[in-house]
Amino acid sequence: MKVVAFNGSGRKDGNTAVLIRRVLSVLEAEGIETELIQLAGEQIRGCNACRTCFSTRNNRCVIEDDNVNAYIQKMVEADGVILGSPVYFSMMSPELKALIDRAGYVALANDYVFKRKVGAAVVAVRRAGAIPTFDAINHFFLISQMIIPASSYWNVGLGRKKGDVANDEEGMQTMETLGKNMAWLIKKLKT
Ligand SMILES: Cc1cc2nc3c(=O)[nH]c(=O)nc-3n(C[C@H](O)[C@H](O)[C@H](O)COP(=O)(O)O)c2cc1C
Repeated sequence: MKVVAFNGSGRKDGNTAVLIRRVLSVLEAEGIETELIQLAGEQIRGCNACRTCFSTRNNRCVIEDDNVNAYIQKMVEADGVILGSPVYFSMMSPELKALIDRAGYVALANDYVFKRKVGAAVVAVRRAGAIPTFDAINHFFLISQMIIPASSYWNVGLGRKKGDVANDEEGMQTMETLGKNMAWLIKKLKT
């Protein structure tokens, strides 16, 4: 059993990473292998809407000069996917959006290749815009026929400076509960 997590923040090891790592530590304690990929510093192109993925149908995007195809492959091989983002002007980061647009189109073109995998969104926010961001990431899971575990609150942590979010007790507890529910769900789906 494996979960791959993507941190869409432009800032490596910031608040989004702190939140994701809390979920991953619970998953690891439950015996689930994890991997965290941080997109900071990467150039990830947006979808060019060529629809080549609908004719090649090989689980790949036609754009080959960035890491998206490798990331799609990691999602294909995983049982669960975590997509984390800070809030930028009330939405997810452009890097995560580009990954979602391209991986999402490739998945749809390939008989919903992420179907029935478990998907969880994680959001870091200073003040406002967390819920639209959380919703937008969940829309990717929903249209991909993925299954979303719940937590005790929406999966949001509050903070501005790097590491601030660790002081958001309720946010960190939400990640802990998310990790437990995600592990429970993955194990149920495996039996
Ligand atoms: C370009 C940019 C836009 C931002 N827009 C918002 C916003 O709309 N609402 C908000 O509450 N915080 C906003 N923030 C603050 C970040 O969401 C917040 O600092 C978050 O904890 C950063 O997470 P990170 O450390 O993982 O990058 C913005 C930060 C940046 C760099």
